[in-house]
Amino acid sequence: MGNHRIMLKINGEFEQVDVPANLTLLQMLRDKLALTGTKNGCMAGECGACTVLVNGDPVNSCMVLAVECDGAEVTTVEGLAHNGVLDPVQTTIIAQGGVQCGFCTPGILISSRALLNRNPNPTDEEIRDALVGNLCRCTGYLRIIDAVKDAAERQRSLAS
Ligand code: FES
Ligand code: FES
Repeated sequence: MGNHRIMLKINGEFEQVDVPANLTLLQMLRDKLALTGTKNGCMAGECGACTVLVNGDPVNSCMVLAVECDGAEVTTVEGLAHNGVLDPVQTTIIAQGGVQCGFCTPGILISSRALLNRNPNPTDEEIRDALVGNLCRCTGYLRIIDAVKDAAERQRSLAS
């Protein structure tokens, strides 16, 4: 099968990548670009560990073909911090103890960032809805939800 040359903006940098038609976005990120922060949990759209932002929307990267992302802007967990400063969602999930094994964490961080980008003051229910596709088998969800609430508050105070 021949490769397709695609161009994407990933974490703010333009990348040109040659990919076979059947390569998923997840495989491309991990295997071709060494962005291994995005995790492969199920390859079936069930766990959310592979969540990345595509043009600002959270998607399961195991369910999207890389060729479909030609021209897209992609943000992975590696792109959340800026100039060595963690994103508020990263800072607060650490402070709240919302990380144990950490396997789900990149996907949870990305879904949380997507939520706070579109809704800077979410209710508990809106946070639960935003994280419904992200499974965590370790921590339980209360600390994670508290972390997103704290991140929202922190983000609002940084903006004011
Ligand atoms: S690896 Fe994509 S949803 Fe589980
Ligand atoms: S911290 Fe282990 S799966 Fe969530």
